[in-house]
Amino acid sequence: MSLPAILGGEPIRRRPYPGWPIHDDREKELLIKALESGRWSVGGSFQEEFEKRFAEFQDAKHALLCSSGTTALKLALRAMGLKPGDEVIVPAYTFIATATAPIELGLRIIYADIDPQSYTIDPWSIEDEVTEKTRAIVPVHIAGRPADMDSIREFAEKHDLMILEDAAQAHGAEWMGRRVGAIGEAGIFSFYQSKNITCGEGGAVTTNDDSLADMIWSLRNVGRPRRGPWYEHRVFGWNYRITEFQAAILLAQLEKAPRLMDLRDRGAETLDKLLDKIDGIEPLKHDKRVTRHAHHLYIFKYDPREFGGLPKEKFIEALRAEGIPCSSGYRPLYTYEFLPKNKPLENVEKASRIEAVWIPQYVLLAEREDLEDIAEAIEKIKKYAGKIPK
Ligand SMILES: Cc1ncc(COP(=O)(O)O)c(C=O)c1O
Repeated sequence: MSLPAILGGEPIRRRPYPGWPIHDDREKELLIKALESGRWSVGGSFQEEFEKRFAEFQDAKHALLCSSGTTALKLALRAMGLKPGDEVIVPAYTFIATATAPIELGLRIIYADIDPQSYTIDPWSIEDEVTEKTRAIVPVHIAGRPADMDSIREFAEKHDLMILEDAAQAHGAEWMGRRVGAIGEAGIFSFYQSKNITCGEGGAVTTNDDSLADMIWSLRNVGRPRRGPWYEHRVFGWNYRITEFQAAILLAQLEKAPRLMDLRDRGAETLDKLLDKIDGIEPLKHDKRVTRHAHHLYIFKYDPREFGGLPKEKFIEALRAEGIPCSSGYRPLYTYEFLPKNKPLENVEKASRIEAVWIPQYVLLAEREDLEDIAEAIEKIKKYAGKIPK
């Protein structure tokens, strides 16, 4: 075994993993159709078609497209009737928009800790912070793994809270046989270019509630009523629409989604088996109630004690030097100087500072030998860990 690349040795890989996003003639065909339709925004057929199909895909009655996952969060929170001063519970381990969207609407956020096995929200960790102003909880299906919706529903019922699922990373994920997005009052998705279904930028809100769907339609269309004259504005809304070109690409991507989901399942299963054999590396534990994981990210736990005390950031640097795409993931949201502060939350701290290592979804689309390279690279780093400067 040669030295790790970080110490000047040969990297395990020089070949890149499959690229992302991917497209073929189907995206081109639909894009040209959208172009030639003469309807590039309102009045075309691609958005409505995608909304119908995506709602079916997520077991929801409605899906409403909008410009991003971030604007989807704002639309949903506003449509759910949350007012400035109301409180919303969010995990402190998530993408920043889960917190900035409610803050922008004048809501106060309460940070919850995460479960150490799944990295999804543990609402019971902040039960004593719930007040009469607390109106909603936003579980995040992090990495494409559904949060514990049974526990969240129990908590929400106990405290009379609405549930908004942040499913930005969880296209096609299932909790106990039901796809996420409309298990709570509403759910949001992102179609940003890294996401498993993408059109570059875009988002959607899903819900089973007809009046919520009408309100979201209205809010994303500068407050126009869903059925009414064009220059009538009944509520204070935004222009958060997307174009027909984006919807055309999304339709083609949705057709590909089931096949890619199967590939990611297979890739994740292979990696689980390979990494489980390495002391100091632990794939996140499975939960039988998660009947489908969307695998937007493959996350494993790194234990520096098994690697001569090598800190996570150095381990990641070494793994990248071997040609393995990976990252350290989120830092606790309360450590951003422009976000509300909080006392350190035990499991959020541990995940972000010590143990969580993220591998992007497109790696899971690779062949078995490509995944074996990951295990081999980790073994090599482990062998020389003591020599890598901290
Ligand atoms: C958990 C989560 N919430 C919200 C968002 C926001 O989505 P967008 O980037 O489309 O605004 C993202 C996107 O990365 C996300 O991962």
